[in-house]
Amino acid sequence: MENSTPSFISPQISSEDLKLETPLKLGVLASGSGTNFEAIAKAIHQEKLNATIPLVIYNNPQAKVKEKAAAFKIESKLLNHRQFKRREDLDQAIVDLFKSYQVDWVIMAGWMRIVTPILLEAFPNHVINIHPSLLPSFKGIKAIEQALEAGVKITGCTVHLASLEVDSGPILLQAAVPILANDTLETLHARIQIQEHKIFPLAIALAAKLYP
Ligand code: GAR
Repeated sequence: MENSTPSFISPQISSEDLKLETPLKLGVLASGSGTNFEAIAKAIHQEKLNATIPLVIYNNPQAKVKEKAAAFKIESKLLNHRQFKRREDLDQAIVDLFKSYQVDWVIMAGWMRIVTPILLEAFPNHVINIHPSLLPSFKGIKAIEQALEAGVKITGCTVHLASLEVDSGPILLQAAVPILANDTLETLHARIQIQEHKIFPLAIALAAKLYP
């Protein structure tokens, strides 16, 4: 069922169109299960995305992304946001770590923290976010619940450059996902994630072309 549901990605580009001469150095930020991190790491492994991931930073001690990073032999570090007084202090610690690993792109792969100018100014136009809705609809938390409650018939996911306003900033790639009559939060989230995993690696390569 999942894969037979029609979906639509725009712009319609492929990894073949987006070959990068110089490998990108991606610093990944993740808060949860890390399936988007995994999709990016797989795209790198399959040579669909010319990049390396020197470091994954996660903020929840239980985040599954830790084990997923280990499976790819990628280093990960915990920066527990509860141990920082201000959002800016957490972002400064992130910037310091990523800079020490010579990261040039910051990838928010399910990063559930609000970013501050500290992070955005350290990596101008090089911070990328994914959100489970067709932005500018349903910003903020519980985007999938918001779409179900609104009764829309099509939702999806968006990869965009991060900006100070939450879930805003130039859109790179979107995928549309139909909402089916019997969808629950879980079934819809699962179908959105299938699309997220397709568009995230493509959007990173597209960003590198558009914002070198
Ligand atoms: C993804 O669905 C992503 O769109 C969402 O968190 C999930 C993380 O999944 N991000 C946001 O809601 C950000 N506002 P993952 O940990 O399996 O990659």
